[in-house]
Amino acid sequence: MDLSTEYLGLNLKNPLIASASPLSRDVASVRAMEDAGIAAVVTYSLFQEQIEHENAEHQHFQEHSTESFAEALSYFPAQRDYRRGPDEHLDHLAAVKKAVDIPVIASINGTTTGGWIDYAGKIEQAGADALELNIYSIVTDPTQDAATVEGSYLEVVRAVKQAVKLPVAVKLTPSFTALAYFAQQLGDAGANGLVLFNRFYQPDIDLEVLEIMPDVVFSAPHEMRLPLRWIAILDPLVKTDLAAGTGIYTSFDVLKLLMAGADVTQLCATLLRNGCGAIDQILAGMVEWMTDHEYDGLKQLRGSMNQKACPDPAAFERGQYMKALNEYTPSS
Ligand SMILES: Cc1cc2nc3c(=O)[nH]c(=O)nc-3n(C[C@H](O)[C@H](O)[C@H](O)COP(=O)(O)O)c2cc1C
Repeated sequence: MDLSTEYLGLNLKNPLIASASPLSRDVASVRAMEDAGIAAVVTYSLFQEQIEHENAEHQHFQEHSTESFAEALSYFPAQRDYRRGPDEHLDHLAAVKKAVDIPVIASINGTTTGGWIDYAGKIEQAGADALELNIYSIVTDPTQDAATVEGSYLEVVRAVKQAVKLPVAVKLTPSFTALAYFAQQLGDAGANGLVLFNRFYQPDIDLEVLEIMPDVVFSAPHEMRLPLRWIAILDPLVKTDLAAGTGIYTSFDVLKLLMAGADVTQLCATLLRNGCGAIDQILAGMVEWMTDHEYDGLKQLRGSMNQKACPDPAAFERGQYMKALNEYTPSS
């Protein structure tokens, strides 16, 4: 069965990518994922704040300044709490790249333009095959409107594209008012791919100590329906490659997302929960289903269920919503 696909100009043997996660902290875990059949890996993110913090610290010691660091920096982990500083991160990336044959996509995570973007160039020099740019920002400033926020995203994408020759994918959160328009703008700004979607980490409150708990809660399987919808809508509209992410656990999830129009699917929670065995299970399940349903390869099914044939996707979505509510019968 031909499971090969292309993403960001990379030829991949199948559509399963390990998304950015702690599994890429160790070379051995990346090798284990490669041995289990993963087609590419995204390494965990290097953060804008981490780079800026290091630069600020450097400057502080150089100038013996008595001024305290910007207050905002105190919200972030201290440098010593990161497993690796920015330069060690690059060394690790180079080590991962050397250890495996599959493509390695590096991840940087930032929200605004600035000197930190130079690191995109350093990531390229470290040997990454592509770059994933995670723009994760919760906009809390009531004076910033959507156009300003989206404009700043586009600026970051343009700046990163100027810094590297590598293909760049943008990992997006799902909270955009006019995603179809914005997705096209990102393509025009130079994004080669979109990763739909990143997942917001929802904080909780610890009632005993009255503190915010920034813990990670894994996605639930039904969450793949959000990328499923948006990939089906965007696939006919955008030129950029599409990677599906969030809530992907089974071969059926992967098949549905490919039919919606994804070029690849990114796995995180299932790998953290179920280990590398999940990779083989998904691949075997895909081959079995495709054989039973007489598909020769992935290219035959990719995009077959997108909204290309739908003359009015917005009306379709609203109609589906009304039908679902109407047809629901409460169990007595
Ligand atoms: C523990 C943990 C660490 C993560 N680290 C990163 C990261 O460094 N960069 C990034 O872009 N996404 C990171 N993610 C997000 C995942 O790559 C993925 O987008 C998200 O978990 C949704 O996919 P899933 O439903 O398969 O878990 C992390 C997720 C988890 C659970």
